[in-house]
Amino acid sequence: MSIFGTPLSPSATRVMLLGSGELGKEVIIALQRLGVETIAVDRYDHAPGQQVAHHARRIAMSDAEQLKALILSEKPDLVVPEIEAIATQALEELEAAGAARVIPTARAARLTMDREGIRRLAAETLGLPTSPYRFCDTLQELRAAIEQHVGYPCVVKPVMSSSGKGQSRVDGPDDIQLAWDHAMTGGRVSHGRVIVEGFVDFDYEITLLTVRSRAADGGIETQFCEPIGHKQVDGDYVESWQPQAMRPAALEKARQVARAVTDNLGGQGVFGVELFVKGDEVWFSEVSPRPHDTGMVTMISQWQSQFELHARAILGLPVSTALKSPGASAVIYGGVDAQDIVYEGVAEALRVPQTDLRLFGKPESYVKRRMGVALAHDHSADAARARAREAAGKLRPRLP
Ligand SMILES: Nc1ncnc2c1ncn2[C@@H]1O[C@H](COP(=O)(O)OP(=O)(O)OP(=O)(O)O)[C@@H](O)[C@H]1O
Ligand SMILES: [Mg+2]
Repeated sequence: MSIFGTPLSPSATRVMLLGSGELGKEVIIALQRLGVETIAVDRYDHAPGQQVAHHARRIAMSDAEQLKALILSEKPDLVVPEIEAIATQALEELEAAGAARVIPTARAARLTMDREGIRRLAAETLGLPTSPYRFCDTLQELRAAIEQHVGYPCVVKPVMSSSGKGQSRVDGPDDIQLAWDHAMTGGRVSHGRVIVEGFVDFDYEITLLTVRSRAADGGIETQFCEPIGHKQVDGDYVESWQPQAMRPAALEKARQVARAVTDNLGGQGVFGVELFVKGDEVWFSEVSPRPHDTGMVTMISQWQSQFELHARAILGLPVSTALKSPGASAVIYGGVDAQDIVYEGVAEALRVPQTDLRLFGKPESYVKRRMGVALAHDHSADAARARAREAAGKLRPRLP
């Protein structure tokens, strides 16, 4: 697109976000700054992105009929999935009928919505290095897969889940039953399919943000951000930093893997390619065809954050992935199960030099729900990490 309209008028350029959490909120803000009209969709009212969009809509995004009806009535120029749990079949139908342009593509949304589509694509179609794995539908199959193929230690995950939900590590035969039960209760849909993956004893893991955007000649250009290192606790990210130092051979391989996956998924936008690294070896883990939670650090470490990159790329605008400064992010959890919580210590947190803060404004807090993030920059990623942790530690969410 090189012609933009006026929001809230018939000429408006309109973008619909499917999912309006903290990542969608920042994409919406980036779009708003470019004069784009935004429609924020979520399954509950007052979701973070809905608070900053022109329009808020509430539907069950996993319901194909509701999703189709909404897209057909709103007729956005672009449909931008922010979460995995949506009726991707409906998106594929609308895209095939020419009734919607889905970011990056409806096929990419379908393949990445569960672990099976993307894992088979990466390992079996593209031949990329991954952990050894099997898919299982019963406890018996899981036992056999571990004993005969995958071995110990291994990780069991529901095929449909995120943020580490339902995931556990299995060190020996005695752990299998527990891991199965945990996966059955932690998955998004109650059909019992799991993936069991060999445990990769990596030195560190990264998210390689990869951007597919339009070049001046109209072709697609692929650019990489500096690698983002991160720390996961119980499968959920608690800290991230940029840049993660890498040996040149590992970085080169990481880029090759990211390029192979994103070339195949196609379309325009940001992809968060998750990789494990040991020495010069690189394993593909998974990919988000959209900004990544660990990429929140780019709000302080890059000239164009991953959200600005996404907004620009999907609109066909040029992008720059240049680093501004080493930086870090530290997650702020709710710490309580309650509605309408309050945050003490905001000024104290921001008094830590070279920091910034995002409070997402989620109406409901859970003990382990991500409610905000502290950001910091410094001369090194390690120094920035210490500042971000310190700032996050000053914040005390509590009951109103
Ligand atoms: N095969 C493995 N070997 C070693 N560690 C693993 C393996 N699989 C997952 N992990 C660890 O668990 C974390 C979460 O796994 P994964 O990314 O598959 O789950 P997720 O629920 O999709 O998480 P998210 O949605 O937050 O990315 C990884 O970032 C990594 O730290
Ligand atoms: Mg992950």
